[in-house]
Amino acid sequence: MHCVQNISSHIYWVGGNDRRLELFENMFPLPGGVCYNSFMIMDEKTALVDTVDQSISRQFMENITEVLGGRNLDYLVINHMEPDHCANIEEMVRRYPSVKIVGNKKTFQMIEQFYNFDFEMNMLEVKEGDVLMLGEHSLKFFFAPMVHWPEVMFTYEMTEKILFSADAFGSFGALSGNIFSDESDFECTFAEEARRYYANIVGKFGQQVQTIMKKLSQWEIKMICPLHGPIWRNNIDYIIGKYDLWSRYEPEKKGVLLVYASMYGNTENVMNVIANSLAKKGVSHMHMYDVSKTHPSYIISDAWKFSHIVFGSPTYNLGLYYGMENVMKDMAALQFQNRKVALVGNGSWAPRAGKAMEEILCSMKNVELICQPFEITSSMKGKQQQLLDEFTARIIESMK
Ligand code: FEO
Repeated sequence: MHCVQNISSHIYWVGGNDRRLELFENMFPLPGGVCYNSFMIMDEKTALVDTVDQSISRQFMENITEVLGGRNLDYLVINHMEPDHCANIEEMVRRYPSVKIVGNKKTFQMIEQFYNFDFEMNMLEVKEGDVLMLGEHSLKFFFAPMVHWPEVMFTYEMTEKILFSADAFGSFGALSGNIFSDESDFECTFAEEARRYYANIVGKFGQQVQTIMKKLSQWEIKMICPLHGPIWRNNIDYIIGKYDLWSRYEPEKKGVLLVYASMYGNTENVMNVIANSLAKKGVSHMHMYDVSKTHPSYIISDAWKFSHIVFGSPTYNLGLYYGMENVMKDMAALQFQNRKVALVGNGSWAPRAGKAMEEILCSMKNVELICQPFEITSSMKGKQQQLLDEFTARIIESMK
Protein backbone atom coordinates (compact mmCIF):
# COMPACT_ATOMS: atom_id res chain seq x y z
CA MET A 1 0.00 0.00 0.00
CA HIS A 2 1.28 3.48 -0.85
CA CYS A 3 2.33 5.89 1.88
CA VAL A 4 2.66 9.45 0.55
CA GLN A 5 2.10 13.00 1.82
CA ASN A 6 1.80 16.42 0.24
CA ILE A 7 4.51 18.88 1.14
CA SER A 8 2.71 21.48 -0.98
CA SER A 9 -0.28 21.27 -3.30
CA HIS A 10 1.65 19.70 -6.19
CA ILE A 11 4.74 18.30 -4.52
CA TYR A 12 4.70 14.97 -2.69
CA TRP A 13 6.91 13.16 -0.22
CA VAL A 14 7.30 9.66 -1.63
CA GLY A 15 10.07 8.39 0.66
CA GLY A 16 10.03 5.81 3.41
CA ASN A 17 11.65 4.50 6.58
CA ASP A 18 13.90 1.62 7.56
CA ARG A 19 13.85 0.58 11.21
CA ARG A 20 15.59 -2.74 10.60
CA LEU A 21 18.98 -1.48 9.48
CA GLU A 22 21.47 -1.77 12.36
CA LEU A 23 24.32 0.28 10.91
CA PHE A 24 24.20 3.22 8.49
CA GLU A 25 26.96 2.80 5.90
CA ASN A 26 27.52 -0.49 7.76
CA MET A 27 29.23 1.59 10.44
CA PHE A 28 26.99 3.99 12.41
CA PRO A 29 24.38 2.59 14.85
CA LEU A 30 20.77 3.44 14.05
CA PRO A 31 18.79 2.93 17.27
CA GLY A 32 15.94 5.02 15.84
CA GLY A 33 16.17 3.76 12.26
CA VAL A 34 16.63 6.02 9.26
CA CYS A 35 14.40 7.61 6.66
CA TYR A 36 15.10 8.10 2.98
CA ASN A 37 13.30 11.09 1.52
CA SER A 38 12.30 11.41 -2.10
CA PHE A 39 9.98 13.98 -3.69
CA MET A 40 7.69 14.06 -6.72
CA ILE A 41 6.77 17.33 -8.43
CA MET A 42 3.57 17.10 -10.48
CA ASP A 43 3.28 19.78 -13.16
CA GLU A 44 3.02 19.87 -16.96
CA LYS A 45 6.11 17.72 -16.65
CA THR A 46 6.65 15.32 -13.77
CA ALA A 47 9.93 15.23 -11.87
CA LEU A 48 11.17 12.93 -9.15
CA VAL A 49 13.93 14.32 -6.93
CA ASP A 50 16.21 11.45 -5.89
CA THR A 51 15.22 7.85 -5.19
CA VAL A 52 15.73 5.77 -2.02
CA ASP A 53 17.74 2.90 -0.57
CA GLN A 54 17.06 -0.56 -2.00
CA SER A 55 15.74 -1.73 1.39
CA ILE A 56 12.52 0.25 0.88
CA SER A 57 12.22 -0.06 -2.91
CA ARG A 58 8.87 -1.81 -2.78
CA GLN A 59 7.25 0.93 -0.69
CA PHE A 60 8.89 3.56 -2.89
CA MET A 61 7.56 2.04 -6.13
CA GLU A 62 4.04 1.92 -4.70
CA ASN A 63 4.37 5.59 -3.72
CA ILE A 64 5.58 6.60 -7.19
CA THR A 65 2.83 4.68 -8.94
CA GLU A 66 0.17 6.26 -6.73
CA VAL A 67 1.33 9.84 -7.19
CA LEU A 68 1.92 9.56 -10.93
CA GLY A 69 -1.59 8.11 -11.32
CA GLY A 70 -0.80 6.63 -14.71
CA ARG A 71 1.23 9.58 -16.00
CA ASN A 72 4.75 9.17 -17.32
CA LEU A 73 7.80 10.21 -15.33
CA ASP A 74 9.57 12.91 -17.34
CA TYR A 75 12.57 13.71 -15.15
CA LEU A 76 14.56 11.99 -12.44
CA VAL A 77 16.82 14.49 -10.69
CA ILE A 78 19.84 12.93 -8.98
CA ASN A 79 21.24 15.24 -6.32
CA HIS A 80 23.43 12.57 -4.76
CA MET A 81 24.86 9.28 -6.01
CA GLU A 82 25.42 7.49 -2.70
CA PRO A 83 23.49 4.21 -3.00
CA ASP A 84 21.21 4.98 -0.04
CA HIS A 85 19.50 7.41 -2.45
CA CYS A 86 20.17 6.22 -5.97
CA ALA A 87 19.52 2.49 -5.70
CA ASN A 88 16.38 2.69 -7.84
CA ILE A 89 17.65 4.57 -10.89
CA GLU A 90 17.86 1.51 -13.08
CA GLU A 91 14.37 0.38 -12.08
CA MET A 92 12.97 3.84 -12.83
CA VAL A 93 14.49 3.72 -16.32
CA ARG A 94 13.04 0.25 -16.85
CA ARG A 95 9.57 1.44 -15.82
CA TYR A 96 9.74 4.83 -17.55
CA PRO A 97 12.06 4.29 -20.52
CA SER A 98 11.80 7.88 -21.78
CA VAL A 99 12.70 9.44 -18.41
CA LYS A 100 15.53 11.97 -18.50
CA ILE A 101 18.05 11.50 -15.70
CA VAL A 102 19.08 14.99 -14.61
CA GLY A 103 22.59 15.18 -13.23
CA ASN A 104 26.01 16.70 -13.73
CA LYS A 105 29.10 15.23 -15.34
CA LYS A 106 30.20 13.54 -12.11
CA THR A 107 26.71 12.12 -11.52
CA PHE A 108 26.89 10.21 -14.78
CA GLN A 109 30.43 9.01 -14.08
CA MET A 110 29.16 7.55 -10.83
CA ILE A 111 26.10 5.92 -12.38
CA GLU A 112 28.51 4.16 -14.71
CA GLN A 113 30.77 3.15 -11.80
CA PHE A 114 27.99 1.76 -9.62
CA TYR A 115 25.61 0.20 -12.14
CA ASN A 116 25.51 -1.82 -15.33
CA PHE A 117 22.76 -0.54 -17.58
CA ASP A 118 22.65 1.60 -20.68
CA PHE A 119 21.52 5.13 -19.76
CA GLU A 120 23.06 7.17 -22.59
CA MET A 121 19.67 7.97 -24.14
CA ASN A 122 18.32 9.07 -20.77
CA MET A 123 21.04 11.55 -19.83
CA LEU A 124 20.30 15.24 -19.33
CA GLU A 125 23.47 16.88 -18.12
CA VAL A 126 23.09 20.20 -16.30
CA LYS A 127 25.64 22.83 -15.39
CA GLU A 128 25.81 25.05 -12.32
CA GLY A 129 22.90 27.53 -12.38
CA ASP A 130 20.94 25.81 -15.18
CA VAL A 131 17.16 25.96 -14.93
CA LEU A 132 14.78 23.17 -15.92
CA MET A 133 11.18 24.27 -16.61
CA LEU A 134 8.42 21.87 -15.55
CA GLY A 135 5.42 24.20 -16.11
CA GLU A 136 4.58 26.40 -13.16
CA HIS A 137 7.56 24.98 -11.33
CA SER A 138 11.17 25.34 -12.37
CA LEU A 139 14.29 23.77 -10.94
CA LYS A 140 17.61 25.55 -10.56
CA PHE A 141 20.74 23.54 -9.87
CA PHE A 142 23.50 24.53 -7.48
CA PHE A 143 26.56 22.32 -7.31
CA ALA A 144 27.63 21.45 -3.76
CA PRO A 145 30.76 19.32 -4.25
CA MET A 146 31.83 17.31 -1.18
CA VAL A 147 28.61 17.93 0.73
CA HIS A 148 28.98 14.93 1.02
CA TRP A 149 30.39 13.47 -2.23
CA PRO A 150 31.91 15.27 -5.24
CA GLU A 151 28.85 14.99 -7.51
CA VAL A 152 26.38 16.46 -4.99
CA MET A 153 24.09 19.22 -6.13
CA PHE A 154 21.19 21.04 -4.51
CA THR A 155 18.00 21.59 -6.48
CA TYR A 156 16.02 24.77 -5.82
CA GLU A 157 12.37 24.95 -6.88
CA MET A 158 12.00 28.60 -7.78
CA THR A 159 8.22 29.10 -7.57
CA GLU A 160 7.60 27.62 -4.14
CA LYS A 161 11.18 28.39 -3.00
CA ILE A 162 11.86 24.83 -1.87
CA LEU A 163 15.44 23.64 -1.48
CA PHE A 164 16.16 19.95 -2.06
CA SER A 165 19.41 19.79 -0.16
CA ALA A 166 20.79 16.25 -0.63
CA ASP A 167 22.43 15.02 2.62
CA ALA A 168 22.71 18.52 4.11
CA PHE A 169 20.32 19.45 6.94
CA GLY A 170 19.49 15.75 7.41
CA SER A 171 19.30 13.53 10.45
CA PHE A 172 19.46 9.92 11.52
CA GLY A 173 16.16 8.56 12.78
CA ALA A 174 13.03 7.22 11.09
CA LEU A 175 9.98 9.47 10.74
CA SER A 176 6.86 8.42 12.63
CA GLY A 177 4.22 9.75 10.28
CA ASN A 178 5.13 13.36 10.94
CA ILE A 179 7.44 14.37 8.13
CA PHE A 180 7.92 18.03 9.15
CA SER A 181 10.30 19.16 11.89
CA ASP A 182 7.58 21.35 13.45
CA GLU A 183 5.26 18.38 13.96
CA SER A 184 7.44 16.88 16.68
CA ASP A 185 9.64 18.32 19.40
CA PHE A 186 12.79 18.48 17.29
CA GLU A 187 15.05 19.28 20.26
CA CYS A 188 13.87 16.12 22.04
CA THR A 189 13.52 13.77 19.10
CA PHE A 190 16.04 14.71 16.44
CA ALA A 191 18.53 17.38 17.59
CA GLU A 192 21.16 14.94 18.90
CA GLU A 193 20.81 12.66 15.89
CA ALA A 194 20.99 15.61 13.48
CA ARG A 195 24.34 16.61 15.01
CA ARG A 196 25.61 13.02 15.08
CA TYR A 197 24.67 12.77 11.42
CA TYR A 198 26.34 16.08 10.56
CA ALA A 199 29.56 15.46 12.51
CA ASN A 200 30.14 11.95 11.21
CA ILE A 201 28.81 12.18 7.65
CA VAL A 202 29.35 15.79 6.60
CA GLY A 203 31.68 17.03 9.37
CA LYS A 204 34.86 16.78 7.33
CA PHE A 205 33.49 19.20 4.77
CA GLY A 206 32.86 22.35 6.82
CA GLN A 207 34.47 24.61 4.22
CA GLN A 208 32.29 23.18 1.45
CA VAL A 209 29.17 23.61 3.60
CA GLN A 210 30.11 27.25 4.15
CA THR A 211 30.58 27.71 0.39
CA ILE A 212 27.16 26.36 -0.58
CA MET A 213 25.47 28.29 2.23
CA LYS A 214 27.02 31.51 0.93
CA LYS A 215 25.97 30.62 -2.60
CA LEU A 216 22.36 30.14 -1.47
CA SER A 217 22.18 33.12 0.86
CA GLN A 218 20.74 35.39 -1.84
CA TRP A 219 17.82 33.02 -2.48
CA GLU A 220 14.75 32.99 -0.29
CA ILE A 221 14.13 29.52 1.11
CA LYS A 222 10.69 28.61 2.42
CA MET A 223 11.25 24.89 2.82
CA ILE A 224 14.29 22.60 3.09
CA CYS A 225 13.89 18.99 2.00
CA PRO A 226 16.93 16.90 3.02
CA LEU A 227 17.40 13.29 1.98
CA HIS A 228 17.21 12.06 5.59
CA GLY A 229 15.14 13.22 8.55
CA PRO A 230 12.36 15.76 8.89
CA ILE A 231 11.52 18.49 6.36
CA TRP A 232 11.92 22.13 7.41
CA ARG A 233 9.06 24.54 6.64
CA ASN A 234 9.12 26.58 9.88
CA ASN A 235 12.01 27.92 11.92
CA ILE A 236 14.40 27.31 9.01
CA ASP A 237 16.89 29.71 10.58
CA TYR A 238 17.33 27.20 13.43
CA ILE A 239 18.81 24.45 11.25
CA ILE A 240 20.71 26.91 9.05
CA GLY A 241 22.18 28.42 12.23
CA LYS A 242 23.26 24.98 13.45
CA TYR A 243 24.89 24.20 10.11
CA ASP A 244 26.70 27.52 10.15
CA LEU A 245 28.04 26.80 13.65
CA TRP A 246 28.95 23.17 13.00
CA SER A 247 30.62 23.90 9.66
CA ARG A 248 32.75 26.61 11.29
CA TYR A 249 33.71 24.06 13.99
CA GLU A 250 32.34 26.40 16.66
CA PRO A 251 31.03 24.71 19.83
CA GLU A 252 27.34 24.87 20.66
CA LYS A 253 27.91 24.79 24.40
CA LYS A 254 30.45 25.93 26.91
CA GLY A 255 31.05 22.68 28.73
CA VAL A 256 33.39 19.74 29.06
CA LEU A 257 33.35 16.44 27.22
CA LEU A 258 35.33 13.78 29.11
CA VAL A 259 36.41 10.80 27.02
CA TYR A 260 38.35 7.93 28.52
CA ALA A 261 39.70 4.47 27.95
CA SER A 262 40.26 2.36 31.03
CA MET A 263 41.23 -1.30 31.36
CA TYR A 264 40.88 -1.76 35.12
CA GLY A 265 39.18 1.45 36.23
CA ASN A 266 42.22 3.53 37.21
CA THR A 267 42.10 6.00 34.32
CA GLU A 268 38.33 6.08 34.74
CA ASN A 269 38.87 7.01 38.38
CA VAL A 270 41.01 10.01 37.46
CA MET A 271 38.38 11.17 34.98
CA ASN A 272 35.73 10.92 37.69
CA VAL A 273 37.93 12.89 40.10
CA ILE A 274 38.40 15.58 37.42
CA ALA A 275 34.67 15.77 36.62
CA ASN A 276 33.85 15.91 40.32
CA SER A 277 36.34 18.68 40.91
CA LEU A 278 35.10 20.68 37.91
CA ALA A 279 31.49 20.29 39.05
CA LYS A 280 32.35 21.45 42.58
CA LYS A 281 33.99 24.52 41.09
CA GLY A 282 30.80 25.36 39.20
CA VAL A 283 31.34 23.83 35.76
CA SER A 284 28.05 22.70 34.28
CA HIS A 285 27.29 20.85 31.04
CA MET A 286 29.66 17.91 31.22
CA HIS A 287 29.33 14.57 29.51
CA MET A 288 31.56 11.53 30.03
CA TYR A 289 32.07 8.52 27.77
CA ASP A 290 34.00 5.26 27.94
CA VAL A 291 35.39 4.60 24.44
CA SER A 292 34.99 0.87 24.96
CA LYS A 293 31.29 1.25 25.66
CA THR A 294 30.07 4.00 23.35
CA HIS A 295 30.27 4.04 19.57
CA PRO A 296 32.70 6.75 18.35
CA SER A 297 29.95 8.49 16.37
CA TYR A 298 28.23 9.58 19.62
CA ILE A 299 31.48 10.80 21.14
CA ILE A 300 32.36 12.72 17.99
CA SER A 301 28.91 14.29 17.93
CA ASP A 302 29.47 15.60 21.46
CA ALA A 303 32.94 16.79 20.48
CA TRP A 304 31.19 19.04 17.96
CA LYS A 305 28.90 20.23 20.77
CA PHE A 306 31.21 21.08 23.67
CA SER A 307 33.87 23.77 23.96
CA HIS A 308 36.37 21.70 26.01
CA ILE A 309 37.49 18.09 25.90
CA VAL A 310 39.49 15.97 28.35
CA PHE A 311 40.89 12.74 26.93
CA GLY A 312 42.27 10.08 29.26
CA SER A 313 43.91 6.84 28.20
CA PRO A 314 46.29 4.10 29.28
CA THR A 315 49.32 3.15 27.25
CA TYR A 316 48.87 -0.02 25.20
CA ASN A 317 51.61 -1.87 23.28
CA LEU A 318 53.85 1.17 23.71
CA GLY A 319 51.22 3.32 22.05
CA LEU A 320 47.67 4.40 22.63
CA TYR A 321 44.80 2.17 23.73
CA TYR A 322 43.07 1.13 20.51
CA GLY A 323 39.60 2.47 21.33
CA MET A 324 41.00 5.89 22.13
CA GLU A 325 43.24 5.89 19.09
CA ASN A 326 40.23 5.00 16.97
CA VAL A 327 38.12 7.91 18.26
CA MET A 328 40.91 10.47 18.05
CA LYS A 329 42.08 9.42 14.58
CA ASP A 330 38.49 9.50 13.40
CA MET A 331 38.20 13.06 14.71
CA ALA A 332 41.40 14.02 12.91
CA ALA A 333 40.12 12.44 9.68
CA LEU A 334 36.93 14.50 10.03
CA GLN A 335 39.09 17.68 10.20
CA PHE A 336 37.85 18.34 13.72
CA GLN A 337 39.26 21.65 14.92
CA ASN A 338 39.00 24.70 17.12
CA ARG A 339 38.76 23.30 20.66
CA LYS A 340 40.54 23.43 24.00
CA VAL A 341 41.81 20.09 25.17
CA ALA A 342 43.44 18.55 28.27
CA LEU A 343 44.98 15.08 28.55
CA VAL A 344 45.33 12.35 31.14
CA GLY A 345 47.94 9.70 30.40
CA ASN A 346 48.44 6.42 32.21
CA GLY A 347 51.30 3.93 31.92
CA SER A 348 52.50 1.26 34.33
CA TRP A 349 55.85 1.10 32.56
CA ALA A 350 57.15 3.02 29.51
CA PRO A 351 54.17 5.46 29.51
CA ARG A 352 53.32 6.68 26.00
CA ALA A 353 49.60 7.51 26.04
CA GLY A 354 49.91 11.24 26.79
CA LYS A 355 52.51 11.73 24.06
CA ALA A 356 50.56 9.61 21.57
CA MET A 357 47.40 11.67 22.16
CA GLU A 358 49.38 14.89 21.76
CA GLU A 359 50.73 13.67 18.42
CA ILE A 360 47.22 13.04 17.08
CA LEU A 361 46.00 16.41 18.37
CA CYS A 362 48.91 18.11 16.61
CA SER A 363 47.38 17.11 13.28
CA MET A 364 44.18 19.03 14.09
CA LYS A 365 43.79 22.72 13.33
CA ASN A 366 43.38 25.18 16.23
CA VAL A 367 43.26 22.52 18.91
CA GLU A 368 44.88 24.10 21.95
CA LEU A 369 46.41 22.00 24.70
CA ILE A 370 45.35 23.77 27.89
CA CYS A 371 48.22 22.42 30.01
CA GLN A 372 50.72 19.57 30.30
CA PRO A 373 49.10 16.11 30.40
CA PHE A 374 48.25 14.83 33.87
CA GLU A 375 50.22 11.62 34.12
CA ILE A 376 49.61 8.67 36.42
CA THR A 377 51.58 5.48 36.89
CA SER A 378 48.98 2.71 37.14
CA SER A 379 46.71 4.67 39.49
CA MET A 380 46.37 8.15 40.96
CA LYS A 381 47.91 8.69 44.41
CA GLY A 382 46.90 11.14 47.14
CA LYS A 383 50.15 13.06 46.71
CA GLN A 384 49.04 13.98 43.17
CA GLN A 385 45.94 15.79 44.41
CA GLN A 386 47.57 19.21 44.30
CA LEU A 387 48.78 18.59 40.75
CA LEU A 388 45.29 17.57 39.77
CA ASP A 389 43.82 20.69 41.39
CA GLU A 390 46.18 22.76 39.26
CA PHE A 391 45.13 20.76 36.21
CA THR A 392 41.40 21.42 36.79
CA ALA A 393 42.12 25.07 37.65
CA ARG A 394 43.76 25.49 34.23
CA ILE A 395 40.68 24.00 32.56
CA ILE A 396 38.40 26.38 34.45
CA GLU A 397 40.64 29.33 33.64
CA SER A 398 40.47 28.46 29.95
CA MET A 399 36.66 28.44 30.10
CA LYS A 400 36.44 32.06 31.21
FE1 FEO B 1 22.56 9.74 2.60
FE2 FEO B 1 25.71 10.65 1.37
O1 FEO B 1 24.12 9.68 1.50
